[in-house]
Amino acid sequence: MRKQIVAGNWKMNNDLAMTESLITELKKRIKTSEAEMMIAPAFTNLWHAFEALRQSDIEVVAQNMHFAESGAYTGEVSADMLKSIGIQTVILGHSERRAYFHETDELLAKKVNTALKNKMRVIFCFGEELADRKSNNHEAVVKNQVTNALFHLDADAFKNIVLAYEPVWAIGTGETASPEQAQDMHAFIRKTLVSKYGQQVANSVSILYGGSVKPNNAQEIFSKPDVDGGLIGGAALNAEDFMAIVNAF
Ligand code: 13P
Repeated sequence: MRKQIVAGNWKMNNDLAMTESLITELKKRIKTSEAEMMIAPAFTNLWHAFEALRQSDIEVVAQNMHFAESGAYTGEVSADMLKSIGIQTVILGHSERRAYFHETDELLAKKVNTALKNKMRVIFCFGEELADRKSNNHEAVVKNQVTNALFHLDADAFKNIVLAYEPVWAIGTGETASPEQAQDMHAFIRKTLVSKYGQQVANSVSILYGGSVKPNNAQEIFSKPDVDGGLIGGAALNAEDFMAIVNAF
């Protein structure tokens, strides 16, 4: 049985006071859930969030990290730094990192290697742009992103990889992929995994959908057989909405 996961990516939102109050609101609403819950606050608030959620069912994860173990990389954060405050999971390859910070498949492969070497779990994001979908290249683009950054790994590594399909045109736009579009792409990704690693590995990898998931569309998206949860942006900034999405399972 694959893990079901709902992760809130807070992006560059919430200062310390807002982080504290959102966590307080989340804690009031936590119910036992089928789905694993995660939140990804900004680096400056990770330690506080980790402490505040230590005894809870919500895991605190990072939004990014550097590929080097340490060194002269001003402004960057290493796997070891994250682990030293209790963080076990990192989001890598978000489309905003690719678009605004020029992260390439090659760089992401290095980051993935570093995270796995440090025994961290990776939520690896990928997804096509609108032009790719319009020109019917969406499957090829996604296949490239996944194979270039991950297919050098051995099958065992996939125990610590969660995939997150986030079509760029659906992020923060209010336009969601239809449940069928999400299912088709997730099934395609799984098929791609089968061709390289076999059915057993492919069946064990959780594939999350991200892009304008809201309380009113989560249930239909999550009901699709190859959709194992969601990576939530805007709606994760509101405790009630986030928990409604978690409870959509
Ligand atoms: P939205 O839910 O705001 O569209 O963001 C999705 C996302 O980028 C999560 O990583």
